[in-house]
This record gives sequence, C-alpha cells and structure tokens, in this order.
Amino acid sequence: MKVYIETYGCQMNEYDSELVKAVLKDQNLSFTTSLAKADIVLINTCSVRENANRKIYARVHEVRHLKKDQSFYIGILGCMVTNLGKELFDLPVDFLAGPDSYRRLPAMINESIAMQSTILDDKLSKQETYQNIYPLRQKGVNAWISVMRGCNNFCSFCVVPYTRGRERSKSLMDIYNECQRLADEGFRQVTLLGQNVNSYHHEGNDFAALLDKVSEIDGIKRIRFVSPHPKDFPGSLIDIVAQNDKICNHIHLPLQAGNDRILGLMRRTYTQKQYLELVQRIKEAIPDITLTTDIIVGFPTETAAECKDTKNVLEKVRFDSSFIFKYSERPGTLAAKKYPDDIAEEEKTRRIVSLNELQKEISLQKNQSHIGKVHDVLLEKKSTKKSTQDYQGRNDGNKVVIISKGPYQIGDFLRVKIEDASAHTLMGTVIAPQS
Ligand code: SAH
Ligand code: SF4
Ligand code: F3S
Repeated sequence: MKVYIETYGCQMNEYDSELVKAVLKDQNLSFTTSLAKADIVLINTCSVRENANRKIYARVHEVRHLKKDQSFYIGILGCMVTNLGKELFDLPVDFLAGPDSYRRLPAMINESIAMQSTILDDKLSKQETYQNIYPLRQKGVNAWISVMRGCNNFCSFCVVPYTRGRERSKSLMDIYNECQRLADEGFRQVTLLGQNVNSYHHEGNDFAALLDKVSEIDGIKRIRFVSPHPKDFPGSLIDIVAQNDKICNHIHLPLQAGNDRILGLMRRTYTQKQYLELVQRIKEAIPDITLTTDIIVGFPTETAAECKDTKNVLEKVRFDSSFIFKYSERPGTLAAKKYPDDIAEEEKTRRIVSLNELQKEISLQKNQSHIGKVHDVLLEKKSTKKSTQDYQGRNDGNKVVIISKGPYQIGDFLRVKIEDASAHTLMGTVIAPQS
C-alpha cells in the first residue's frame, strides 16, 4: 500500500511526519507524493488557531471528494486529535492518532481495516520522545530534530500544552548521535526544535550544553533553534550563541504582547521591561543578531492603548520580521474559561493591519541596511520566486537570499554581496565560495 502525507502547522509537525514515515516504512509501506495514487492518506494537523481546524475539516471533505471513485483509508494525525478527540468522529475518517501515538499507528491502521470502524488513540505520554526512531527525511540541506516535546507553560491563550502534553527531553547523546548521522548523510544544518526549546534539560545538561555538544560535529556547519521562551534565557545561552560560529545569529523570541496587564493575563511570566532588557543583553553580546517574533492582537479586554504598547516594543526592538496573529479562542484554555473573546473582529483586523504596516517598514529598512555587505549564504534550493533561473539560500540570520544561477550546488556555502533588498528577501551576487 502507498501512503501520502500532508502536513500542517509548525516545524514540530514536519518532524513528526518524518517520524511517522519511519514507523510506517518498517511495516513495508511505501510513499507517494500523489494523492491520486495513495491507498492511505494521512493528514498531520494543527489546532493552534480556529482557522487551522477549519482548514482541516474542509480538506478532509475535499480529499473524500477528489478520490470518490477510489477505495482508500484516511487518517488524521497530530494536534487536532488530542484537541478534539471523539468530536472528530463526525469526519469521514478511518483512524485518528495524536502526537504521542505514532508507534501504535501500524496497529491502528490494521485494526481500522479489519474492523471497518474508526479507531482513536489520543493518549498523551509523559515519557515518549521517540528516542530510538530515526526519521525518514527528504535529502536536503536542513534537518529538523525535535530535542524536547510538550510544553509546561500554559500561556492562557494556548492549546499546545493540551495537544502535546508535558515537557520531556531527549538524551544529549541521542541527539548528538542523530546529528552525527545527519552530517554523514550530507545535511549541513540542523534545526533543534521544541515548543519551548530552551527549557531543554536532560540529566544535568541544559540547552546551552546541548548546543555546545552538537557544534562539535564537523559536518554540521549551521545550528538553528526554535522556539525559545524569554523566561529561559540565561547569560550562558546568549554567550554560546555569541561565541560559537556554528550557532546562527538568529533568535526567534516570541513577545506576544507589549503591555504588562495583557502579558499578565496571558501568563507569559515577563514584563515589557524584562523583555526589553533581555533584547538589550542579546544585542550587546551579538550586534548583528537577527531578531524575529510572534505577536497576538486582540487578546480579551486588550484596549487600543494597550495594543499601542505592543507597537512601541516593535519600534524599540526593530525586529527583522514578526508573525502577527489575531487572538483565536481555544476551548479548554484558561483564557477561554475566564475571559470572553470580546474584541470585535474588525478591531482585531485594524490592529493587525496597523502592526503589519509598521513591521513591513522596519523589515524593509533593516534589509536595506545590508546592501553592500557580504554574507555567507548556504544554498538551499532553486528559487520559487520570479525566475526559475535563480537560486535561493539563507544567511546566518535566516534571511532568504536570492542569487542568479551559476555553477553551484545545493548545499554550497557562498560569499554573497547584497545588491538589493525587499521587506522579505535580500538579492545578491556571489563573490566567492566560502573558504
Ligand atoms: N511555543 C512557541 C509558540 C507556539 S504557537 C512559543 O511559546 O513561542 C506559535 C504562535 O502562535 C505563538 O507564538 C502565538 O503567537 C500564536 N498563537 C498561539 N495560540 C494562539 C491563539 N489562541 N490565538 C492566536 N495566536 C495564537
Ligand atoms: Fe503555547 Fe506558551 Fe507553550 Fe508556547 S510557551 S507552546 S505559547 S503554552
Ligand atoms: Fe499547531 Fe500543534 Fe504545532 S497545535 S503549532 S502543530 S504543536
């Protein structure tokens, strides 16, 4: 039987889909990138905002419609399963497996085929890190690697602690060995993943120790990580990002809001002042740092003046880019229980448009400030933008850099002079391969 997987949501889900492939490959199942040819269709889902859920409902019905004359099985994986459980029985699907149930997937598929009924496993585990499973990855430049799973923070708006359960970390040596194997297979970059990646700890090793260990591997040239939480940012972590050349100078540091009352209601555990002080320390230690963030507008009771505080932080920090979301009430979260979703949709729209406009201006100015500078670019793929003749890579700060086609290979490190910039990308010409 041939399996087709579609993945929604964050990078953790990308990684999990690769884990699922490894589990299924052991059962002699093969894979296809064509929905039409699939005998088993898997949809790995996200629940972080209501929109994400809606998209999946629509997609399941669409898949049924597209393949209406064929017999096939359809399974839902991931966060929607642990979020909604039996509610998903309304959907025309055969099996439902949450993020901690992937070892059971082959048995579940067999069971649903044998019993002709929908099988659900939405249990969360306190231990599961899929420690001994080596994901089946697409060959490429970057490999995702989940170093911890779950989240203990319970930010009041967020469904993740309910969909992914409690925090647990993989062993340091296990991650080191996985990265070594990735290097042997030709991956040049690893991105360490966790919902709260810097709360990684295993047998006395913290996140800074993990970064240090992974950087010992010769073949790995770049190390990235997402997403750190501002509360777990000791000096030792800033120092290692500053001092270790392999660890990229990019920190995605979710702010969520700039107003202290809202940050309190969100249970983010820091104030605007503490966040700004952290940014200051980071900028002092790493002057060329690329900073990006996540923001939510329209949290219950947020006034226009309080949203202005978020705008002020954007102006002070001058993030390279921001992902800005409208608050979406998630059933079961503290915010949903305590605070009615009382900001009108049009007001949320006004706030998101206004913040996005400001961010776009800042992003453009920041990108333009790189014109004339030389960056080390790791070539990732043929560009999807404009001409198919172009290549696309990223600089140390994770910015997309477009260069013209030349005698280069995906995975090459190039020294590139930046000639032009938009709010989203840098354009440059290659000066030389990196020495
Ligand atoms: N673990 C990461 C974020 C995970 S979710 C962290 O703590 O930073 C990714 C982003 O989605 C969040 O940073 C937040 O900005 C947004 N988000 C989460 N729940 C949301 C909700 N209920 N409504 C709108 N945006 C939300
Ligand atoms: Fe959600 Fe907060 Fe955990 Fe991030 S840290 S996953 S926003 S609860
Ligand atoms: Fe979505 Fe789950 Fe990731 S809710 S953001 S796929 S952890």
